[in-house]
Amino acid sequence: LRVAVLMGGWSAEREVSLTSGRGVAAAARALGHEVVAIDMDRSVGQALALAAPDVVFNALHGTPGEDGTVQGLLDLMGLPYTHSGLVTSVIAIDKELTKQALVPHGIRMPVGRIVASESLYAGDPLPRPYVLKPVNEGSSVGVAIITEGGNHGDPISRDSEGPWRRFDRLLAEPFIPGRELTVAVLGDAALGVTELRTANGFYDYDAKYTEGLTTHVCPAEIPEAIAAAAMRMAEEAHRLLGCRGTSRSDFRWDEAQGEQGLFLLEVNTQPGMTPLSLVPEQARHAGISYEALVQMLLDEALS
Ligand code: DAL
Ligand code: MG
Repeated sequence: LRVAVLMGGWSAEREVSLTSGRGVAAAARALGHEVVAIDMDRSVGQALALAAPDVVFNALHGTPGEDGTVQGLLDLMGLPYTHSGLVTSVIAIDKELTKQALVPHGIRMPVGRIVASESLYAGDPLPRPYVLKPVNEGSSVGVAIITEGGNHGDPISRDSEGPWRRFDRLLAEPFIPGRELTVAVLGDAALGVTELRTANGFYDYDAKYTEGLTTHVCPAEIPEAIAAAAMRMAEEAHRLLGCRGTSRSDFRWDEAQGEQGLFLLEVNTQPGMTPLSLVPEQARHAGISYEALVQMLLDEALS
């Protein structure tokens, strides 16, 4: 096959995407495919027309590769591509739209509130501790935990460092104490549950991409009922949003509340494919190599 690997772009996750894309391109070459690697800029349509691929592997993260924009371009060009389509991407990139789509179907998610950054200077939108996050970023870019003390323990002001200075629209959610879990769905089935254990309890950008900062416990050492519930919720979310190929659902679990303490935070339609990423890791535990995973996603795109 002639495979175009779309990577890079200009989102805050550009570097992550370049790492994902390089891994995918190497795997596709090893599988015997002819690979055209495209570091996306604004002339991506021309680059794709020139490449004339049989299939596009979308290794982009963030805007505009994960929010439906690139998916719309590929639809118009008639090019088959991996991962979710336009409508699913538009909904899943937006953490508030995702809640509106999933909560009515019984998927437990934290009750959040959209706030204008400017309004935070007048006071907290929720009781502390709470989490502030941009509605449509990935890799924990711009996420802040607002606590009673310590870092971010002071009133939010124009002069303090935080996402309110960079993003106009934020999602405020109650902070869920406890453990960080993730579930990859491949095809229609959950692969397993991984727990992320970080030294400071916050699986932020550095903890995600610096080797040694996070321990991945795969499979997670949690009660069978919690693992089953997380896998069921991830499969349901994948199906309800109409995800294709693969998705990864991220959870917090407040042990003290048992199964009622398991909350879906978000669904990632373009999960990372870096050496430290979780979908390839869960696939490996399920006996699916990185190369086999890439081939499965290409096959799905062409089916
Ligand atoms: N947003 C990053 C790439 C992830 O979900 O893995
Ligand atoms: Mg995400």
